[in-house]
Amino acid sequence: MKLYIAETYDELSRMAADIISDELSGKKPFNLGMATGSTPLGLYRQLVQKNRAGQLDLTDVRLFNLDEYYPLAQDHPQSFFSFMKNHVYDPLHLPSHRVFIPNGLAKDTGEECNRYERLIHQHGGIDLQILGVGSNGHIGFNEPGTSFASRTQVVRLADQTIQDNARSFDDVGDVPKQAITMGIGTILESRRIVLLANGEAKAEAMRELFHGKITEQVPVTSLRLHPHVTVIIDQKAAALLNLSLQKK
Ligand code: GLP
Repeated sequence: MKLYIAETYDELSRMAADIISDELSGKKPFNLGMATGSTPLGLYRQLVQKNRAGQLDLTDVRLFNLDEYYPLAQDHPQSFFSFMKNHVYDPLHLPSHRVFIPNGLAKDTGEECNRYERLIHQHGGIDLQILGVGSNGHIGFNEPGTSFASRTQVVRLADQTIQDNARSFDDVGDVPKQAITMGIGTILESRRIVLLANGEAKAEAMRELFHGKITEQVPVTSLRLHPHVTVIIDQKAAALLNLSLQKK
Protein backbone atom coordinates (compact mmCIF):
# COMPACT_ATOMS: atom_id res chain seq x y z
CA MET A 1 0.00 0.00 0.00
CA LYS A 2 1.19 3.48 -0.81
CA LEU A 3 0.35 6.16 1.74
CA TYR A 4 0.21 9.89 1.06
CA ILE A 5 -0.56 12.33 3.84
CA ALA A 6 -1.92 15.61 2.51
CA GLU A 7 -1.61 18.93 4.35
CA THR A 8 -5.19 19.90 3.58
CA TYR A 9 -8.42 18.41 2.28
CA ASP A 10 -7.91 20.40 -0.92
CA GLU A 11 -4.51 18.84 -1.46
CA LEU A 12 -5.96 15.37 -0.78
CA SER A 13 -8.66 15.99 -3.39
CA ARG A 14 -6.17 17.27 -5.96
CA MET A 15 -3.84 14.30 -5.45
CA ALA A 16 -6.73 11.90 -5.98
CA ALA A 17 -7.94 13.80 -9.06
CA ASP A 18 -4.44 13.68 -10.57
CA ILE A 19 -4.23 9.91 -10.10
CA ILE A 20 -7.65 9.43 -11.66
CA SER A 21 -7.05 11.70 -14.64
CA ASP A 22 -3.69 9.95 -15.28
CA GLU A 23 -5.43 6.57 -15.25
CA LEU A 24 -8.27 7.79 -17.47
CA SER A 25 -5.84 9.04 -20.09
CA GLY A 26 -4.48 5.48 -20.47
CA LYS A 27 -6.78 2.47 -20.79
CA LYS A 28 -10.02 2.86 -22.79
CA PRO A 29 -12.78 2.08 -22.14
CA PHE A 30 -12.24 2.65 -18.43
CA ASN A 31 -14.48 1.41 -15.62
CA LEU A 32 -14.31 3.73 -12.64
CA GLY A 33 -15.77 2.63 -9.30
CA MET A 34 -17.38 5.51 -7.43
CA ALA A 35 -18.03 6.18 -3.76
CA THR A 36 -20.48 8.56 -2.10
CA GLY A 37 -20.20 10.43 1.20
CA SER A 38 -18.58 13.74 2.07
CA THR A 39 -15.00 12.49 1.57
CA PRO A 40 -14.88 12.27 -2.26
CA LEU A 41 -16.79 15.54 -2.83
CA GLY A 42 -13.59 17.58 -3.25
CA LEU A 43 -12.26 14.99 -5.70
CA TYR A 44 -15.48 15.17 -7.73
CA ARG A 45 -15.27 18.98 -7.79
CA GLN A 46 -11.71 18.67 -9.11
CA LEU A 47 -12.78 16.23 -11.81
CA VAL A 48 -15.55 18.59 -12.92
CA GLN A 49 -13.06 21.48 -13.08
CA LYS A 50 -10.58 19.44 -15.10
CA ASN A 51 -13.33 18.38 -17.46
CA ARG A 52 -14.50 21.97 -17.96
CA ALA A 53 -10.91 23.03 -18.61
CA GLY A 54 -10.68 20.38 -21.32
CA GLN A 55 -8.16 18.33 -19.30
CA LEU A 56 -10.31 15.26 -18.69
CA ASP A 57 -11.87 13.24 -21.47
CA LEU A 58 -14.71 11.05 -20.21
CA THR A 59 -15.91 9.74 -23.55
CA ASP A 60 -14.94 6.16 -22.80
CA VAL A 61 -15.55 6.10 -19.06
CA ARG A 62 -18.24 4.10 -17.31
CA LEU A 63 -19.09 4.66 -13.66
CA PHE A 64 -20.10 1.90 -11.24
CA ASN A 65 -21.20 2.91 -7.76
CA LEU A 66 -20.40 0.91 -4.68
CA ASP A 67 -23.80 0.98 -3.04
CA GLU A 68 -27.29 2.36 -2.55
CA TYR A 69 -29.64 2.52 0.40
CA TYR A 70 -32.47 -0.04 0.50
CA PRO A 71 -35.32 0.59 0.23
CA LEU A 72 -34.99 4.07 -1.25
CA ALA A 73 -36.21 5.53 -4.55
CA GLN A 74 -33.61 6.98 -6.93
CA ASP A 75 -35.34 10.36 -6.84
CA HIS A 76 -35.25 10.57 -3.04
CA PRO A 77 -32.97 13.53 -2.25
CA GLN A 78 -30.76 11.40 0.02
CA SER A 79 -30.36 8.47 -2.36
CA PHE A 80 -26.83 7.83 -3.58
CA PHE A 81 -28.27 8.12 -7.11
CA SER A 82 -29.31 11.73 -6.31
CA PHE A 83 -25.86 12.40 -4.82
CA MET A 84 -24.23 11.13 -8.01
CA LYS A 85 -26.63 13.02 -10.26
CA ASN A 86 -25.98 16.31 -8.46
CA HIS A 87 -22.22 16.04 -8.02
CA VAL A 88 -21.09 13.87 -10.91
CA TYR A 89 -23.53 12.72 -13.63
CA ASP A 90 -25.05 16.13 -14.46
CA PRO A 91 -21.95 18.34 -14.09
CA LEU A 92 -19.94 15.87 -16.20
CA HIS A 93 -22.80 15.35 -18.71
CA LEU A 94 -22.60 11.58 -18.41
CA PRO A 95 -25.28 9.69 -20.35
CA SER A 96 -27.40 7.21 -18.39
CA HIS A 97 -26.09 4.21 -20.38
CA ARG A 98 -22.61 4.78 -18.91
CA VAL A 99 -23.54 5.11 -15.23
CA PHE A 100 -24.50 2.21 -13.01
CA ILE A 101 -25.74 2.02 -9.42
CA PRO A 102 -27.74 -0.65 -7.58
CA ASN A 103 -31.51 -0.14 -7.67
CA GLY A 104 -32.65 0.74 -4.16
CA LEU A 105 -36.24 -0.24 -4.96
CA ALA A 106 -35.58 -3.61 -6.60
CA LYS A 107 -38.42 -6.04 -5.88
CA ASP A 108 -36.17 -9.08 -6.10
CA THR A 109 -33.03 -8.01 -4.27
CA GLY A 110 -31.22 -11.30 -4.87
CA GLU A 111 -31.70 -10.85 -8.62
CA GLU A 112 -30.64 -7.19 -8.39
CA CYS A 113 -27.38 -8.17 -6.66
CA ASN A 114 -26.69 -10.82 -9.32
CA ARG A 115 -27.51 -8.34 -12.08
CA TYR A 116 -25.05 -5.82 -10.66
CA GLU A 117 -22.28 -8.42 -10.37
CA ARG A 118 -22.94 -9.54 -13.98
CA LEU A 119 -22.89 -5.94 -15.18
CA ILE A 120 -19.45 -5.33 -13.70
CA HIS A 121 -18.19 -8.63 -15.07
CA GLN A 122 -19.65 -8.13 -18.58
CA HIS A 123 -17.95 -4.73 -18.83
CA GLY A 124 -14.59 -6.24 -17.96
CA GLY A 125 -14.33 -5.43 -14.24
CA ILE A 126 -13.54 -2.25 -12.31
CA ASP A 127 -10.25 -0.61 -13.34
CA LEU A 128 -10.01 1.77 -10.42
CA GLN A 129 -12.24 1.84 -7.36
CA ILE A 130 -12.48 5.02 -5.28
CA LEU A 131 -13.23 4.25 -1.63
CA GLY A 132 -14.07 6.19 1.49
CA VAL A 133 -14.26 4.50 4.86
CA GLY A 134 -16.85 4.48 7.63
CA SER A 135 -15.82 5.51 11.14
CA ASN A 136 -16.25 1.83 12.09
CA GLY A 137 -13.96 0.70 9.25
CA HIS A 138 -16.70 -0.24 6.76
CA ILE A 139 -16.06 -0.03 3.01
CA GLY A 140 -19.01 0.40 0.68
CA PHE A 141 -21.68 -0.63 3.18
CA ASN A 142 -19.83 -3.77 4.25
CA GLU A 143 -20.05 -3.56 8.01
CA PRO A 144 -17.75 -5.20 10.59
CA GLY A 145 -18.04 -8.99 10.39
CA THR A 146 -18.60 -9.14 6.61
CA SER A 147 -16.77 -11.94 4.82
CA PHE A 148 -13.81 -10.83 2.70
CA ALA A 149 -15.21 -13.17 0.01
CA SER A 150 -18.62 -11.42 -0.09
CA ARG A 151 -20.22 -10.40 -3.38
CA THR A 152 -22.86 -7.72 -4.05
CA GLN A 153 -25.46 -8.24 -1.35
CA VAL A 154 -28.19 -6.73 0.78
CA VAL A 155 -26.83 -5.70 4.17
CA ARG A 156 -28.19 -4.36 7.43
CA LEU A 157 -26.51 -1.10 8.43
CA ALA A 158 -24.65 -0.95 11.74
CA ASP A 159 -26.10 1.40 14.40
CA GLN A 160 -22.92 3.48 14.15
CA THR A 161 -23.43 3.92 10.39
CA ILE A 162 -27.07 4.93 10.87
CA GLN A 163 -25.94 7.54 13.44
CA ASP A 164 -23.10 8.78 11.18
CA ASN A 165 -25.33 9.07 8.11
CA ALA A 166 -28.24 10.68 9.99
CA ARG A 167 -26.67 14.10 9.30
CA SER A 168 -27.91 13.88 5.69
CA PHE A 169 -31.49 13.03 6.72
CA ASP A 170 -34.09 15.10 8.62
CA ASP A 171 -34.28 12.52 11.38
CA VAL A 172 -32.22 9.47 12.39
CA GLY A 173 -35.42 7.44 12.00
CA ASP A 174 -35.48 8.31 8.29
CA VAL A 175 -32.14 6.60 7.56
CA PRO A 176 -32.84 3.33 5.73
CA LYS A 177 -31.80 0.30 7.76
CA GLN A 178 -30.46 -1.65 4.81
CA ALA A 179 -28.43 -1.17 1.65
CA ILE A 180 -27.30 -3.00 -1.47
CA THR A 181 -23.53 -2.94 -1.64
CA MET A 182 -20.75 -4.43 -3.71
CA GLY A 183 -19.19 -7.12 -1.53
CA ILE A 184 -15.63 -6.99 -0.21
CA GLY A 185 -14.68 -9.75 -2.67
CA THR A 186 -16.14 -7.64 -5.49
CA ILE A 187 -14.20 -4.56 -4.35
CA LEU A 188 -10.93 -6.51 -4.02
CA GLU A 189 -11.21 -7.62 -7.67
CA SER A 190 -10.77 -3.99 -8.83
CA ARG A 191 -7.41 -3.56 -10.55
CA ARG A 192 -6.51 -0.54 -8.46
CA ILE A 193 -8.01 1.01 -5.33
CA VAL A 194 -7.67 4.60 -4.12
CA LEU A 195 -8.86 5.07 -0.54
CA LEU A 196 -9.53 8.57 0.79
CA ALA A 197 -10.03 9.56 4.43
CA ASN A 198 -10.10 12.90 6.17
CA GLY A 199 -10.88 14.10 9.65
CA GLU A 200 -10.35 12.69 13.11
CA ALA A 201 -13.39 10.41 12.90
CA LYS A 202 -11.35 8.24 10.50
CA ALA A 203 -8.13 8.12 12.55
CA GLU A 204 -8.94 4.83 14.30
CA ALA A 205 -9.90 3.11 11.05
CA MET A 206 -6.56 4.27 9.59
CA ARG A 207 -4.66 2.93 12.60
CA GLU A 208 -6.37 -0.44 12.11
CA LEU A 209 -5.59 -0.37 8.39
CA PHE A 210 -1.86 0.24 8.87
CA HIS A 211 -1.10 -1.25 12.28
CA GLY A 212 -3.97 -3.56 13.21
CA LYS A 213 -4.40 -7.19 12.23
CA ILE A 214 -6.18 -8.15 9.04
CA THR A 215 -9.62 -9.09 10.29
CA GLU A 216 -13.20 -9.24 9.04
CA GLN A 217 -14.10 -7.25 12.16
CA VAL A 218 -12.50 -4.22 10.45
CA PRO A 219 -13.48 -4.41 6.75
CA VAL A 220 -10.96 -1.79 5.59
CA THR A 221 -8.08 -4.08 6.65
CA SER A 222 -9.04 -6.33 3.69
CA LEU A 223 -7.23 -3.78 1.50
CA ARG A 224 -3.93 -5.15 2.79
CA LEU A 225 -4.67 -8.26 0.70
CA HIS A 226 -4.79 -6.19 -2.51
CA PRO A 227 -1.63 -5.57 -4.58
CA HIS A 228 -2.34 -2.02 -5.78
CA VAL A 229 -3.83 0.28 -3.15
CA THR A 230 -3.11 4.00 -2.76
CA VAL A 231 -4.25 5.62 0.47
CA ILE A 232 -4.55 9.42 0.61
CA ILE A 233 -5.45 10.94 3.97
CA ASP A 234 -5.18 14.24 5.77
CA GLN A 235 -3.21 14.97 8.95
CA LYS A 236 -6.22 14.40 11.22
CA ALA A 237 -6.95 10.97 9.80
CA ALA A 238 -3.22 10.19 10.15
CA ALA A 239 -3.10 11.28 13.80
CA LEU A 240 -2.87 7.74 15.25
CA LEU A 241 -0.34 6.38 12.74
CA ASN A 242 3.18 5.55 13.75
CA LEU A 243 4.85 7.08 10.74
CA SER A 244 8.34 5.84 11.60
CA LEU A 245 6.98 2.29 11.27
CA GLN A 246 5.43 3.24 7.94
CA LYS A 247 8.77 4.23 6.43
CA LYS A 248 10.38 0.82 7.05
C1 GLP B 1 -21.20 5.72 3.60
C2 GLP B 1 -20.81 5.01 2.30
C3 GLP B 1 -19.32 4.73 2.25
C4 GLP B 1 -18.55 5.95 2.70
C5 GLP B 1 -18.87 6.28 4.14
C6 GLP B 1 -18.12 7.47 4.69
O1 GLP B 1 -21.69 4.92 4.60
N1 GLP B 1 -21.52 3.79 2.08
O2 GLP B 1 -18.99 4.35 0.92
O3 GLP B 1 -17.17 5.72 2.57
O4 GLP B 1 -20.26 6.53 4.22
O5 GLP B 1 -18.79 8.68 4.47
P1 GLP B 1 -18.14 10.09 4.64
O6 GLP B 1 -17.19 10.25 3.50
O7 GLP B 1 -19.27 11.06 4.56
O8 GLP B 1 -17.44 10.10 5.95
